Amino acid sequence: MSAVNMAVDFGGIKMKNPVNTASGTFGYGWQFQNFFDVSELGAITTKGCAAEPWAGNPKPRMTEVPGGIMNSVGLQNPGVRAFAEESGPFLQDLSDKGTAVICQVAGHSVAEYVAALELFDELCPWAAGFELNVSCPNIAAGGAACGSTPNGAAEVMRACRPVTKKPLLVKMAPVRLPEIARALEAEGADGLTVINSIPGMAIDVHTRRSKLSRPTGGLSGPLLHPIAVRMVWEVANAVQIPVCGVGGVMTGEDAAEFILAGATAVSVGMASFVDPAAPVRILRELEEWAESQGVSDINELRGAFEC
Ligand SMILES: Cc1cc2nc3c(=O)[nH]c(=O)nc-3n(C[C@H](O)[C@H](O)[C@H](O)COP(=O)(O)O)c2cc1C
Repeated sequence: MSAVNMAVDFGGIKMKNPVNTASGTFGYGWQFQNFFDVSELGAITTKGCAAEPWAGNPKPRMTEVPGGIMNSVGLQNPGVRAFAEESGPFLQDLSDKGTAVICQVAGHSVAEYVAALELFDELCPWAAGFELNVSCPNIAAGGAACGSTPNGAAEVMRACRPVTKKPLLVKMAPVRLPEIARALEAEGADGLTVINSIPGMAIDVHTRRSKLSRPTGGLSGPLLHPIAVRMVWEVANAVQIPVCGVGGVMTGEDAAEFILAGATAVSVGMASFVDPAAPVRILRELEEWAESQGVSDINELRGAFEC
């Protein structure tokens, strides 16, 4: 039990501590239950899920790069109905134990986001809130993500906002962040998750082919961290709604940097591939850091960065 109050309010989602998991790096939670007690975490965010199943991209879809990994999983998912049926009992129990379950919503068009969110809202009563992943390729826009422009992101939010009364978050692509963040706030977003992976390329020079089945993939890991801290700081200064920092959190100090930059919550991503118990270790280290700062409440440390 920490001497510091670790509870935070992330856009109406009550979290017993600021530690969350990054979508796509923690499955649906139950895959990690043999490594540690998942209910110690403040929240988990589940892998992006669409109304209908998506097969994802062909293999290979993961490769190591210096300082991180690159993936082209392509949002493989079983569809909301199968997700709710298979993972619902575990996630209901997690919610009963006070860990917020945030379900991530995927779609290839505005209509697909709405269809998926309608199903989530109906079939997942244990969800504390939903997160729109506006980085999915939009078919109507020739593959560009809805979230890559202020208008595109705002359009998704405007269509989805009336679908649920629960907190609605947005996972942001690392582009035009302050202006897109302001557009999403104006349309009623309750919180922003910053950042998604950054597009990269890795070429096998012997075969002259991509190391993935596609030319590009999303970069994750420690190499992202300083960029993500800068982006969280910019977004936290641009909007009033809370921000969850994501990108290269491997230690409690990395998580603390996000909090000092203005984040209310922090998500652990690639670190779970290195050590499946990383989220709970990072929570302990964050508690130790908060205690070392001589505060009684971690909320006092949010945005406390001094230049
Ligand atoms: C294998 C893999 C799958 C991912 N799937 C998703 C996803 O479904 N939705 C999403 O918003 N982000 C997804 N991400 C991005 C992470 O949530 C996170 O934003 C990114 O990895 C940066 O955090 P990290 O450096 O701590 O891993 C995925 C990342 C990885 C490595």
